[in-house]
Amino acid sequence: MSHHTKLSSLIFLSVVFLFLFSTFLPLYTTNRFTKKFLLSPSSACNFSNGNWVLDSTKPDPFYDDTCPFHRNAWNCLKNKRDNMGLINSWKWIPRDCKLERIDPWRFLGLTRNKNVGFVGDSLNENFLVSFLCILRVADDGAKKWKKKGAWRGAYFPKFNVTVAYHRAVLLARYKWIQKQSTDSNQDGVKGIYRVDVDIPADEWIGITDFYDVLVFNTGHWWGYDKFPNETPLVFYRHGEPIRPPLGLSDGFQVVLENMVHYIQKEVPKNTLKFWRLQSPRHFYGGEWNQNGSCLFDKPLEENQLDLWFDPSNNGVNKEARRLNHLIKEALRGTDIPLLDLTHLSEFRADAHPAIWLGKKDAVSIWGQDCMHWCVPGVPDAWVDILVQLICISLG
Ligand SMILES: *[C@@H]1O[C@H](CO)[C@@H](O)[C@H](O)[C@H]1NC(C)=O
Ligand SMILES: *[C@@H]1O[C@H](CO)[C@@H](O)[C@H](O)[C@H]1NC(C)=O
Ligand SMILES: *[C@@H]1O[C@H](CO)[C@@H](O)[C@H](O)[C@H]1NC(C)=O
Repeated sequence: MSHHTKLSSLIFLSVVFLFLFSTFLPLYTTNRFTKKFLLSPSSACNFSNGNWVLDSTKPDPFYDDTCPFHRNAWNCLKNKRDNMGLINSWKWIPRDCKLERIDPWRFLGLTRNKNVGFVGDSLNENFLVSFLCILRVADDGAKKWKKKGAWRGAYFPKFNVTVAYHRAVLLARYKWIQKQSTDSNQDGVKGIYRVDVDIPADEWIGITDFYDVLVFNTGHWWGYDKFPNETPLVFYRHGEPIRPPLGLSDGFQVVLENMVHYIQKEVPKNTLKFWRLQSPRHFYGGEWNQNGSCLFDKPLEENQLDLWFDPSNNGVNKEARRLNHLIKEALRGTDIPLLDLTHLSEFRADAHPAIWLGKKDAVSIWGQDCMHWCVPGVPDAWVDILVQLICISLG
């Protein structure tokens, strides 16, 4: 099995939207979006601060297992996951503001002749699947769209709107370089992944003019399980290996700085930009490859979250908060607002595909999926938050 297939089948995860006032306060005067955000008191709110409430009056999800934009492994209805009704009865309620459910007709009307792009790893793809399935309700002529390097997407002809995902798991360009047979084999290295820290991946380098809204992420691939010592990431700048070589964490920071710089320089000023934070994983009792499981039937309690996720407790799911910290550092002082879905998603240990993956041997081979999310499910709440933020800006 190729490294790629393996990696893409693996999983991590998570969720809410946050604006770091302190981060972009100084820039409010330069950006249409942030200006409106500041001036409109009803919208000046932290969507990520709140709680999940069981709400029997919550309307059914906009879509079911028949949506043509599903990815099989996340189509939990089709895969007969337990508790799907319950999973979708929880409603995220921000403490200080009202979170509206998306109105797909209104949203597509507002974004007529515009395009929305996601760039990053499979957690952004998970987000996109929910978004496409919801928007399709307002335009059943929606067609699959995979142009301009997109991995998955849809065109909504009634509104002339395209919404698509560009797969670029590290954001920067990287490629596999097989070890030469003449090289010594003492270190056990089979080859390297060369990462050009200053070059965006081909999948999105040419698309920044096409989209009116762009949602970036990276982080879930930056681990030694995906890039072990035998097949490590090796970082290059200006075409030369960086010396001394960087470890994963330093490499992550350098890539973030370079990608943020590129976005600031190359993406048109009036494009709405968001950087979504990490999706938390919920492996309980071990890592994904150590029988870690997520067979929960309700969300975690607020007082359990630190134990699960605070890096100082050194649990298996600590990466999300650790990486978020680095991402916030890299974005400080830029005009790219954070989309903080982490905290709200941390609660939802109950909402992953877990063992319901739609393939007979998937669990014995890959372990449970406690990283991605069932759709319909938690990503629908991500969509509500993203859409509310876009509407604040365009509306
Ligand atoms: C928003 O709320 C979340 C969750 O309580 C918190 O982690 C975050 O720091 C808050 N953000 C701001 C900008 O206050
Ligand atoms: C559709 O939208 C694009 C911008 O994304 C625009 O260039 C084009 O003219 C629009 N087409 C129609 C028929 O309005
Ligand atoms: C996972 O569970 C199986 C079956 O219970 C067991 O045989 C195996 O040793 C476990 N693996 C780990 C890494 O704990």
